[in-house]
Amino acid sequence: MFSRFEVEHCSPSKLRKFHERVSSFSDRFAKSRCKHYVSKSISSLFVIGLFLWFFLAMVCTHFFYFPRYQPPVRSNRVHQSGDLVPKCNVFYGNWIPDESYPLYNATQCPFAERGFDCLANGRRDGGYQKWRWKPKNCEIPRFNVHEILGKLRGKRIVFVGDSLSRTQWESMICMLMQGVQDKRRDVYEINGNKITKRIRFLGVLFSSYNLRIDYYRSVFLVQPGSSPRRAPKRVKSTVRLDKLEDMSNEWIDSDFLIFNSGHWWTPTKLFDMGCYFQAGQSLKLGMGITSAFRTALETWASWLETSVNRNRTRVFFRTFESSHWIGRNRNSCEVTRRPWLKSKGKDRSWISDIIIDVVKKMTTPVTVLHVTPMGAFRSDAHVGTWSDDRSITDCSHWCLPGVPDTWNEILLSMLLSKDGME
Ligand SMILES: *[C@@H]1O[C@H](CO)[C@@H](O)[C@H](O)[C@H]1NC(C)=O
Ligand SMILES: *[C@@H]1O[C@H](CO)[C@@H](O)[C@H](O)[C@H]1NC(C)=O
Repeated sequence: MFSRFEVEHCSPSKLRKFHERVSSFSDRFAKSRCKHYVSKSISSLFVIGLFLWFFLAMVCTHFFYFPRYQPPVRSNRVHQSGDLVPKCNVFYGNWIPDESYPLYNATQCPFAERGFDCLANGRRDGGYQKWRWKPKNCEIPRFNVHEILGKLRGKRIVFVGDSLSRTQWESMICMLMQGVQDKRRDVYEINGNKITKRIRFLGVLFSSYNLRIDYYRSVFLVQPGSSPRRAPKRVKSTVRLDKLEDMSNEWIDSDFLIFNSGHWWTPTKLFDMGCYFQAGQSLKLGMGITSAFRTALETWASWLETSVNRNRTRVFFRTFESSHWIGRNRNSCEVTRRPWLKSKGKDRSWISDIIIDVVKKMTTPVTVLHVTPMGAFRSDAHVGTWSDDRSITDCSHWCLPGVPDTWNEILLSMLLSKDGME
């Protein structure tokens, strides 16, 4: 099952460094000024001294007040989609009310799992469905189902990752089914499988468009394994950081490949379960989660560089999908009626930072779907207690229809954009 996770913030240490730099600068400045003027005559010394005193007073006042202003913490952001949508980073903006949403009714979509259909599970306020993402300097093109279905004819779209990938997969199918007349006959899971939490593969065919939309469950992307012989007793299983998941050969034969990973890289899901890291034959008992995540992503990156057919497949990686656990142990969850007005630090995540960093160093183009900032505001859009299990609250997963639809609106607009296609 899904439980909580931790977000790390890196701004406080950055701020401290900034202040240190500022004060050492003012020290040096004052000293060099003083030296320069000692050799002058007494009278001019007096005048200059007066001037210096005034000047230093100004400098002091300035640096006394300056730290009160927020330094631009965001200035070093990567512009992930810069090549696709010139002069607009679609991942920075705000949510505005829009009565034309939602794009579908989850209860009428057989591929929206019951656990995400919050209205059917008793949620009374439907306002969370009526928000549109507005990027700062542009608009996301309006979702036009017939245009998109036409462009996707004959394609295979593959989602790989954890349950948040499954949500996006479900959302995309529900969105595209709006353009299909005979939904029951035309759109089906190829093995007749029902959606369950542990299922490793689901494939849906839109038969009249010959369009496949597949989902592979791979929460770490790398291979889980059993504990090696002679391992300490607490080691029940391992995550093999140097080896991609066995199923990966089934992912590459695709036109669009969308990855995620993140929510399982927590102590509760790993160490508390007796799951430790392994590279080659050796156990990495002392290895921290951050460096393990980076290592796994580097394994993924080098696999991708050699396996993917760049002439055919466009690759995306979704960053951390913000969650809204609060409280001292980050274990309580209060779904609000309206989105937060501020992101409250949830617009950053160490997971997203590592994803952006690893992708930047690759030669295969990978588009980062940087959904962390937009999700940060959406404290209103989580499943909460309106899931299939009322006994737990859930501030990680999202209601459908909802936030994952916006990920898809952005993704689909990128799939259509000419300059991104070969
Ligand atoms: C969605 O569909 C169900 C079943 O047809 C219906 O009961 C419900 O009122 C619909 N919800 C909305 C918000 O229209
Ligand atoms: C990809 O396209 C380039 C240029 O058209 C071609 O030279 C290359 O052989 C193609 N690679 C594959 C794997 O099809």
